[in-house]
Amino acid sequence: MVELKVYGGNAAGWSGGAVVLLLREEDCRSVPEVPCRDAVKELAARKDFTGKAGTSLRVPLLSGGVRNLFLVGLGSGEDEACSAEAVRNALTAALREAGRHRCESALVPMEHLNVGGGRPFGPEAPDWSVVVGEASGLSGYAFDKYKERKEDDDEGAFALREVLVPGLDEAGGRRGMTYAAAQVAARDLANEPGCVINPPALADRAQVMAKELGLDCEVWDEARLKEERMGALLAVGSGSATPPRLIRLSYIPRGGKARGKVVFVGKGITFDSGGLDIKPASSMTTMKGDKSGACCVMGILRGAAEMKLDVEVHGILASAENMPSGSSFRPDDIVRARNGKTIEINNTDAEGRLVLADALCLASEMRPDAIVDIATLTGACAVALGNWRAGLFSRSDGLSEALLASARRRGERFWRLPAEDDRIAEKLKSPFADLVNSGQRYGGATFAALFLGNFVDRSIPWAHLDIAGVDFMEKAWGVYARGASAFGVRTCLDYLASL
Ligand code: BES
Ligand code: MN
Ligand code: ZN
Repeated sequence: MVELKVYGGNAAGWSGGAVVLLLREEDCRSVPEVPCRDAVKELAARKDFTGKAGTSLRVPLLSGGVRNLFLVGLGSGEDEACSAEAVRNALTAALREAGRHRCESALVPMEHLNVGGGRPFGPEAPDWSVVVGEASGLSGYAFDKYKERKEDDDEGAFALREVLVPGLDEAGGRRGMTYAAAQVAARDLANEPGCVINPPALADRAQVMAKELGLDCEVWDEARLKEERMGALLAVGSGSATPPRLIRLSYIPRGGKARGKVVFVGKGITFDSGGLDIKPASSMTTMKGDKSGACCVMGILRGAAEMKLDVEVHGILASAENMPSGSSFRPDDIVRARNGKTIEINNTDAEGRLVLADALCLASEMRPDAIVDIATLTGACAVALGNWRAGLFSRSDGLSEALLASARRRGERFWRLPAEDDRIAEKLKSPFADLVNSGQRYGGATFAALFLGNFVDRSIPWAHLDIAGVDFMEKAWGVYARGASAFGVRTCLDYLASL
């Protein structure tokens, strides 16, 4: 991974692979004291670069010690484009470009952006060092371990080793790098195909991580799941040649003085074929990503441990492979969840809410201060919000607002959707059991949230994050790499750090 360092030398005299300059429009009209200032003045005078938001330019330099100048436009300082989110995305993209152009070292002067208190570097958003850390840590990510030739691939060879930032706040930079590393670890796992990561393999990975970080880890196999009355998780896993697992991870701060206790629950469907209600082939690709929620929870535990937070953090990963076979659960089956509620199955492809049901019962029994579940739960959420924004459902305004504030700080877009609706709730009724697992096409994401609500103690603040649609990216853009995004990891870590 890239190393992030404070640069204390004379920036104007620096030599190396890349100087990355983030410039506002006003910086192009009157160029501040930055490295390669003459080149910037010339390019700005010729209108080759004006600082407009969303623009960027690589300028190979032939004389002097700097090999490439990367210019990144931030728009007018008054614009929304100059937000921390835009800077994070633009800087990540520029560093990715620098790495792919064989630059080993990049100098990123940012002090000129403090002038006039322009956002995000002014007093309103003092954590820009965190943003630089996130961009540095995410810039080199690509899932290319199975590619023999990386050199000629657009997401391959990445040479960047160090990012040097004058005036960087080291602690902030480190925190940003930790957020990024947690997200990268989650992406690496989520990107693995179903033939590599099945539920027992996910449990093995969790145990390895727990050992590395000193976390507690407990894995429940089928026999234990039966004893523990986790009938919904067992039903979903019953069609697969690889059995389901429930994985518990715990980070307990040293000294025994935790300021709170939060349980994260992750959907860990290692492959979702739909089961007997099988998906069409075109919807089945990318369904290795249906374990993303569980991978995010592992990333959150990694980050919490690395930051040595003084909050107790628990993870529950509900993992199964949803497959059609002679032993599959079927439409019309009635299964019993851990809290005793019975569920009539009317669609085996609505499996995520089933595995989460049992896990949420367990989470409630742990009496935490908050429960947050993360799941690639419904296509309906992706239809509602698109590929760049995830759904947040909660009966608690306080928890919603805290999570949305963290999401804004970290530049992960969430939108609150209804978690309660008496008319949609009507459709949860089954003629033969307490609940059905699907039914309502309209409002499908809220229907799923309402279903989950039956397994959470009402006295515990709970939020459900539906990351279907944002969990898997077609191509690299900003902080996102092609493939798994591990969307939500940085938001949840920011939330924990803010407690
Ligand atoms: N894993 C899918 C949801 C999904 C869809 C995730 C697209 C990522 C991208 C989930 O298990 C599912 O199949 N949901 C069904 C629910 C329906 C049968 C009620 C859906 O959304 O179609
Ligand atoms: Mn499904
Ligand atoms: Zn699924």
